Amino acid sequence: MPLIGLKESALKLILFGGKGGVGKTTCAVSTGVFLAKEFKTLLLSTDPAHSISDSLGQQIGDSIKEVKGIKNLWALEINADKALSEFKTEYAKEIREILDTSTNLDKDDIESVFSLSIPGLDEVMGFKTVLNLMDKGEFDKYIIDTAPTGHALRLLTMPQLLDGWIKMLAKIRWKYRYIIKTFSGRYVPDKADDFLLNMKKMVKKIGELIKDENRCEFIGVTIPEDMAIQETSRLIQSLSDYGVEVKQLVINNVMEPSDCKFCRERRKEQEKYISRIKKKFANLKTTLVFLRPREVKGMNDLNTFGLQLASQSDLQTSLASKLNAR
Ligand SMILES: Nc1ncnc2c1ncn2[C@@H]1O[C@H](COP(=O)(O)OP(=O)(O)OP(=O)(O)O)[C@@H](O)[C@H]1O
Ligand SMILES: [Mg+2]
Repeated sequence: MPLIGLKESALKLILFGGKGGVGKTTCAVSTGVFLAKEFKTLLLSTDPAHSISDSLGQQIGDSIKEVKGIKNLWALEINADKALSEFKTEYAKEIREILDTSTNLDKDDIESVFSLSIPGLDEVMGFKTVLNLMDKGEFDKYIIDTAPTGHALRLLTMPQLLDGWIKMLAKIRWKYRYIIKTFSGRYVPDKADDFLLNMKKMVKKIGELIKDENRCEFIGVTIPEDMAIQETSRLIQSLSDYGVEVKQLVINNVMEPSDCKFCRERRKEQEKYISRIKKKFANLKTTLVFLRPREVKGMNDLNTFGLQLASQSDLQTSLASKLNAR
């Protein structure tokens, strides 16, 4: 059975995640190609080693570009360094003001604190881009191609870390407010306070979006091999601890029935792992995708892959259904 629910109008954000090399980018990009037939879709990559461009066979980069050859599909490869420097340029005055008025740091110390990286900021900036576009109703669907497991978890849990950073700034700001209020009798919030409040609101909004199962879905991608299953298990558990329930799992690289002896052997081995996956993740819906003789690259391949992955009507689906039924 193919992936379900992708066309639900409430579902806006779809993330694909899993172990390195299992087919996350291929699933994300081909789902984008598939959904663009009916929805205005934006494909985003938060993987520092961007491969959307390679998969599509065209250069994307860090500003939203229309994908050539596919109507309604747009893509963006988020550049974390650029996002960080834009953030610092936009809010430099406010952050410096907080550190300057509320701490004993001298100018040099403030500059060195300011030049440190801010935990979780690049991930948050990625989501901020999505939230801003969502607020404006720019796209119907947003699909995120994440980096391998550890990074995907980072992506989802980093807003919490940034929240810690904001709280730290808020705390030192609060002391400043207290002193001003004590001596002058009143305190008028300024731009630095607005900045803290807005950041807090944004992190909260991101957390709400990620955990809202109607608006956001995290789809696991795995292959029928022992190490991949173990890593999938850890990923699903960590996501669940964080409040994100994975409901569907793609099992990629499944061998098609064949007369070749080598392929039969591989398939036999895979069947063992496929039944293990089904037992281990009995409450998840699984979608099998066949291993192709060549890598999946360019529009034709992506289109076929997308149909097998997400379309109810594709011929391949009936074959996959047979395997699924075992
Ligand atoms: N079903 C398949 N049949 C044949 N080749 C596939 C299949 N799925 C993916 N591939 C190929 O396998 C390679 C790895 O796929 P992909 O880049 O999607 O994996 P990934 O999980 O995103 O990897 P990374 O963790 O490095 O980001 C690519 O060359 C892709 O074309
Ligand atoms: Mg990838």
